[in-house]
Amino acid sequence: MSEKKVMLSGNRVSGRLHIGHYFGVLKNYVELQTKYQSYFFIANWHGLTDRHDTSSMKEHSIEMLRDWLAVGIDPEIATVFVQSHVKEHAELALLLGMITPLGWLYRCPTFKDKVKDITEKDSVNFGLLGYPVLMTSDILVYRAHYVPVGEDQLAHLEISREIARRFNSFYGNIFPEPEAVLTKTSKLMGLDNRKMSKSYDNCIYLSDDMDTVKSKIMPMVTDPARIKRTDPGNPEICNVYSYHKAFEQPESILKEIFEGCTNAGIGCVDCKKILLKKMEEFFIPIHEKRKTLSDDYIRQVAEAGSVKARIRADETMRLVNEKMNLII
Ligand code: TRP
Ligand code: SF4
Repeated sequence: MSEKKVMLSGNRVSGRLHIGHYFGVLKNYVELQTKYQSYFFIANWHGLTDRHDTSSMKEHSIEMLRDWLAVGIDPEIATVFVQSHVKEHAELALLLGMITPLGWLYRCPTFKDKVKDITEKDSVNFGLLGYPVLMTSDILVYRAHYVPVGEDQLAHLEISREIARRFNSFYGNIFPEPEAVLTKTSKLMGLDNRKMSKSYDNCIYLSDDMDTVKSKIMPMVTDPARIKRTDPGNPEICNVYSYHKAFEQPESILKEIFEGCTNAGIGCVDCKKILLKKMEEFFIPIHEKRKTLSDDYIRQVAEAGSVKARIRADETMRLVNEKMNLII
C-alpha cells in the first residue's frame, strides 16, 4: 500500500453536487481511487474565505459527502474526511505562510477576480489572499503527487508547486511537487449552454429524481437551425448531443443520432428521449445508493477518514518541524 503514490483532492462546500461536478472531477476520483493512495476531503475552511454565514455549512457538507459516496467513492479504499477535522492542515498553512511572498498571492488570477466582485462592506480578508497557501498545505501535508482538479484550479496548483520548491530549497527536500490531473472528457455545459453553476440555475443535480431530470432536459435548446421537424441540424453545435457523449452513449447510437439529425430523420424530442433513457441508467443506481446513506453513517465515515488522514499528516508535520528546527 505504501508503494502507491498519493493522490489528493478537495471540493469547496457547495451543497448538492451536479453532473458538471461529476464529469469535471468526481468521475476522475472514482476511476483513480484504486490506482493511488487516495485522500478526498470537504474543504470547509476554504468555504469561509468568501462568506461569513455558516448556517448551511453542516448540512451542505453532509450532502456533498452523500453524493461522493453515492457516485462510487469507496471509503474502504479512499480516505474521505473533512478539512477542519484534521488540524495539521492549519499548522502547515501557518508555516508555509512564512515562506510565501505576498506578490505570488496578489498576482493569483482567482484572487484578482474575487477582489473585483467584492463590495466595500464585505472587504477583502486575509483568508482570501491566503487561499492558495491553505490549499498548498492541504496537498503537502499528505506529500501528495497527484491532484485531480478542474482547469479553474491550475493557477493555484502552480503556486503550490512553487511553495513546495521553496520549502525544499530552504529546509530540505521533503515535498514532491504536486501535479494536476485533468479529466479527459470535455466540459459539460449547463442546460442553457453556459457554465453549469448553481448561480445560473442551469444544473442537473445528482440527487434530482427522474421526473425532475426530464423536466429539465425536454425544454433544452437544440440546434436553432431545426425550426421544423424536417429541417436538418448539426449535432456538433447542439448541447443535447454533447450530453449524449458525456453519458457515454454507445458509438452505434451516437452514429444513428448524428445521421438522424443531419438528415432530419429524427426529431429533437426523440433525440432527448433517447438521452433520458441513457441518463436513467446513470441516475437510478446513484439514487438507490443515496437512500442507503444515513447522516449518521456519513458522520462515521468522515470520523474514520480523519483518523486515517491524521496518521500521514502527523508524519509530515514531524518531518517539517524537525527540518525547521521547531522541536527542541
Ligand atoms: N480550491 C479547490 C476548489 O475550489 C478546493 C480545494 C481546496 C482543493 N484544497 C484543495 C483542491 C486541495 C485540490 C487540492 O475546487
Ligand atoms: Fe440536437 Fe438531437 Fe435535435 Fe440534433 S436531433 S439538434 S442532436 S437534440
